[in-house]
Amino acid sequence: MKVDVLLGLQWGDEGKGKIVDVLAPKYDVVARFQGGPNAGHTLEFDGIKHVLHQIPSGIFRKTTKNVIGNGVVLDPIVFKTEIEKLEKFKLDVKANLFISKKATLIIPTHRLLDQAYELAKGVNKIGSTLKGIGPSYQDKIGRQGLRVGDVLSANFSEKFKKLSDIHFEILKSHNIQFDWNALEQQFLEAVNFLKQFKLIDSEYFINAELEAGSSILAEGAQGSLLDIDFGSYPFVTSSSTVTAGACTGLGVAPKHIGKVYGIFKAYSTRVGSGPFPTELLDEEGERMRKQGNEFGSTTGRPRRCGWIDLPSLKYSIMINGVTQLLMMKADVLNIFPTIKICTKYKLSDGSITETIPYELVNEKIEPIYIEVNGWNKSLEGITNKEMPKELTHYIQLLEKELNVPITLLSTGPDRTQTIHRTV
Ligand code: GDP
Ligand code: IMO
Ligand code: MG
Repeated sequence: MKVDVLLGLQWGDEGKGKIVDVLAPKYDVVARFQGGPNAGHTLEFDGIKHVLHQIPSGIFRKTTKNVIGNGVVLDPIVFKTEIEKLEKFKLDVKANLFISKKATLIIPTHRLLDQAYELAKGVNKIGSTLKGIGPSYQDKIGRQGLRVGDVLSANFSEKFKKLSDIHFEILKSHNIQFDWNALEQQFLEAVNFLKQFKLIDSEYFINAELEAGSSILAEGAQGSLLDIDFGSYPFVTSSSTVTAGACTGLGVAPKHIGKVYGIFKAYSTRVGSGPFPTELLDEEGERMRKQGNEFGSTTGRPRRCGWIDLPSLKYSIMINGVTQLLMMKADVLNIFPTIKICTKYKLSDGSITETIPYELVNEKIEPIYIEVNGWNKSLEGITNKEMPKELTHYIQLLEKELNVPITLLSTGPDRTQTIHRTV
């Protein structure tokens, strides 16, 4: 069997959590390969809404094994809170969750540093979720980070002290107030809690599962346009959110990658700072936000909204080798009589392009749109055979432009509001 990868093609929040949950019964293993508690993955079923930050979205499926891979950054405090929230659902989390010893630990000073760095940037701030993502990946790459496996070593407290001391030195030149005793105690309690779980060499685990014929779904976090290399740098996250990240974040060789599910909204959203060519700053954007309930799953911040952007989707499809597309939140466009599709960009020198310019931040990018008729009706309860013709037209137009089939359409947040398309 292969490792299939599911990842966001835009700026995150495409609906990855919902779809991983929908697809999980087809998979033996679901594995997160990057990111950390900056992610907020929403799942809805039986009238209950769940938001997961650290735990893979296969956790509600009783027979699915869930892996937090080595590419992830893990905050034991967020992890503990999340596990405690799940307790009332009587899941066998201890049996079904496996955590890589090589995953990087987020310690409380990483969150403080995140705040300090954002404050220092002033108006140029990234708009980080302030979960300590950047500083923890910085320590990983700087070869001084702590890893999950370290919590099992006899001198963990010493290692923890050594790293926090390094951070305190940096924090001295920033004006951040904190109560270290409380933070330390909360962290050490959470570390103890973490020790009860299966802390493993996940690269061996995943490869043994592959060898045994198991099917594996790698669950991406964030989106390709937030990737550390290919996103709108520096307004990005600090990990590899693309397909290649699944190889390094799980220890899977490229030859084992199978399908690549590219997930996107029928329009665009972005939370935090950074370029967004099709952003709607007017009343239309406000209506989109309201209709799509576009408020961050992790921070509650309003998401910026705009029309679909084909040059950036084409770019993400290219980088990821997407084999099938999944279109989410089609129902949000129900209220628009006409729908705009950005097919090209006009740059400040008057040139027209379909590629993503290197200079995004200081370039004025004007989207060039085509306009199609909306369907102007509810999609509640529709099936493959009863799609409004305008919706079919929208889908077919995107498939033609993007040159990849759209095999799934989502028309609401619930598990059941999902249409599998055969093409
Ligand atoms: P993720 O980070 O990619 O998992 O996405 P989020 O969970 O952060 O954001 C997606 C939001 O859209 C969540 O509130 C979902 O419940 C919701 N959602 C997912 N699919 C649909 C859909 O087809 N229609 C509508 N209206 N909401 C959806
Ligand atoms: P999911 O997995 C949307 C954004 C932040 C900020 C930038 C850097 O739910 O799709 P960071 O906390 O990583 O330092 O923030 O990236 N961001 C996300 N936006 N969805 C996410 O995750 C995000 N994770 C980070 O808003 O602009
Ligand atoms: Mg999210």
